[in-house]
Amino acid sequence: MSLSGRRILLIVSGGIAAYKALELVRLLRRAGGEVRAVLTAGGAQFVTALSLQALTEHKVYSEIFSLTDESEMGHIQLSRSADLVVVAPASADILAHMAAGLCNDLATTLLLATDKRVLVAPAMNVRMWQHAATVANMATLRERGVLVVGPDEGAMACNEWGPGRLAEPPAILAAIETALAAPALPLAGRRALVTSGPTHEPIDPVRYLANRSSGRQGHAIAAALAGLGADVTLVSGPATATPPEDVRLVRVETATEMLRACQAALPVDVGVFAAAVADWRVASAAGTKLKKTPGGAPPELQLVPNPDILATIAAAGPSRPRLVVGFAAETGDLRAYAEDKRRRKNCDWIVANDVGADDGIMGGSENEVCLITEAGAEAWPRLRKEEVAGRLAERIATALAG
Ligand code: C5P
Repeated sequence: MSLSGRRILLIVSGGIAAYKALELVRLLRRAGGEVRAVLTAGGAQFVTALSLQALTEHKVYSEIFSLTDESEMGHIQLSRSADLVVVAPASADILAHMAAGLCNDLATTLLLATDKRVLVAPAMNVRMWQHAATVANMATLRERGVLVVGPDEGAMACNEWGPGRLAEPPAILAAIETALAAPALPLAGRRALVTSGPTHEPIDPVRYLANRSSGRQGHAIAAALAGLGADVTLVSGPATATPPEDVRLVRVETATEMLRACQAALPVDVGVFAAAVADWRVASAAGTKLKKTPGGAPPELQLVPNPDILATIAAAGPSRPRLVVGFAAETGDLRAYAEDKRRRKNCDWIVANDVGADDGIMGGSENEVCLITEAGAEAWPRLRKEEVAGRLAERIATALAG
């Protein structure tokens, strides 16, 4: 009884494959699961509420505005009392509603209101499955952490051949068992932006202003967030560290490009700004290589301030991430400077390190940081940068869950 005591909310949407939902209910019940079914208007064209009711031994829900349903169990409660929400079959239409966040019936409202994981089993005509709109919708849903089983390839009811057939009920049952066995990753469905590495500010086509940042700490944070299930955009300057694979990598050179790339990555739930952004750039970089002339005076570089990426993204506004984490490399009165920076740049947390105390930190493999939050300062022991990243990612997951 692999599903003993587990509660599954099964949404049956339209399509000829809806009849297979009855077999799925039978398998789920046999595995010990408790099933509540929701039948969409489209689904009701193919199976009856009566059959689902007989097999689930529960009332079948289909009307959002039914007062009886609301007094028995509100739609919010219905969507949250389950351990897993399963849409089988999932029509192109319901997937498009899910991707767009639209809700105009009970099923789509439950899908928008749920705080549980969702597994979809798509079923539709092969051309509908391969249409650019469905492809984009599926990419959006997968990115948000929606689980997918099938579709299978084979002969379709409409006499065509290809992918689009509903996965067989035993395969859907197996996907449900897997989903319920594995604990959800704490950052699944969350979007994160991480900046990392130095910036290069051109002087002329061959020379630039730079710093010693390797990108190792920022890259490790991006990897740790992705490891907890987040959808991560890593905006990296010309770093020497190897970027992680499971992130969206945007390579930039200058601070100006980094700001633009960060703005393009919004909205996100959390932004971690670990890049060592150059404070200044050359006012007007030369278009051709500056020449050394015998006896000539060296060129004078006029510097202008770069945009402050952290402060720009952390400024109050509709696209501000829920959690903004800045870094501070300080020498001297670490905590006071870092707390001042936290307030001045309007960020929630600052990860501060004393680069004066040990010059092996910048570009090195270890870090000794102090996490400064609204609640105060926490000194962490000296750790490998990957361990600092792991701890920070866990803290971020806890904060976003709260
Ligand atoms: O002001 P300071 O450079 O010490 O602040 C460090 C923090 O600000 C880091 O999180 C760094 O990534 C960010 N920063 C930025 N854009 C700048 C300068 C710093 O995002 N131009």
